[in-house]
Amino acid sequence: MVIGIMGAMPEEIEPIVSKLSNVKRHEVADNIYYTALYGSLDLVIAYSKIGKVFSALTAATMIERFGVRKMLFSGVAGAINPELAIGDLIAATKLCQHDLEITAFGHPYGYVPEGKVFVEADRSLLEIAAAVAGKKGIKLKRGIVATGDQFVADEERKRWIEETFGADALEMEGASVAVVCDAWRVPFFILRAISDAADMDAGFDFDTFLESSAKKSAEFIFAMLDEIDQAK
Ligand code: ADE
Repeated sequence: MVIGIMGAMPEEIEPIVSKLSNVKRHEVADNIYYTALYGSLDLVIAYSKIGKVFSALTAATMIERFGVRKMLFSGVAGAINPELAIGDLIAATKLCQHDLEITAFGHPYGYVPEGKVFVEADRSLLEIAAAVAGKKGIKLKRGIVATGDQFVADEERKRWIEETFGADALEMEGASVAVVCDAWRVPFFILRAISDAADMDAGFDFDTFLESSAKKSAEFIFAMLDEIDQAK
């Protein structure tokens, strides 16, 4: 079983790659993919660069070129739900694109013909995450994650995303990875640790907490690998 582990930025995958030995480096389509064996699991790891297009390219490359059959995404997000504090973990139950809009043709926000407003994450991976959280005593929230090609640092935009999609957190890659995995029928799991509250202070908070929050998310993903490996 080949498992893909994605992040958007170097800080999001470094804590994972640095724990592996005999890592091989591959260059494909202007990106770098790392492969390694962990227990009985074949891993492919990459950061995509920021945004929906780069993350879709990386997800598709992992599936087509590297034979990925389960996808795990690790990274940071801006909180919408006030229950989420900096460093808290949220696992996406479903994801949407908050910046996809053809409402002029009578369609709802986030929808284009033959697409879906929400793409649902894999239930069994969500259950594995819940088991890991339980065993380790880690608080793991489940919720809706909204994705867009926009760093949100604006209370009004954040409220609009909350009201329109019922989103708990927002980021810039989850839904595009979800669309690619859904199309290829590859079960996926999107985990985010909060780095900011998508408000006026978001830029400063993001810079301050990117590394520590990315590490929390990556460590949780690593614990999920142990669980997946042991269940095999
Ligand atoms: N990722 C982390 N914080 C974010 C924000 N405020 N907007 C978009 N993506 C983010």
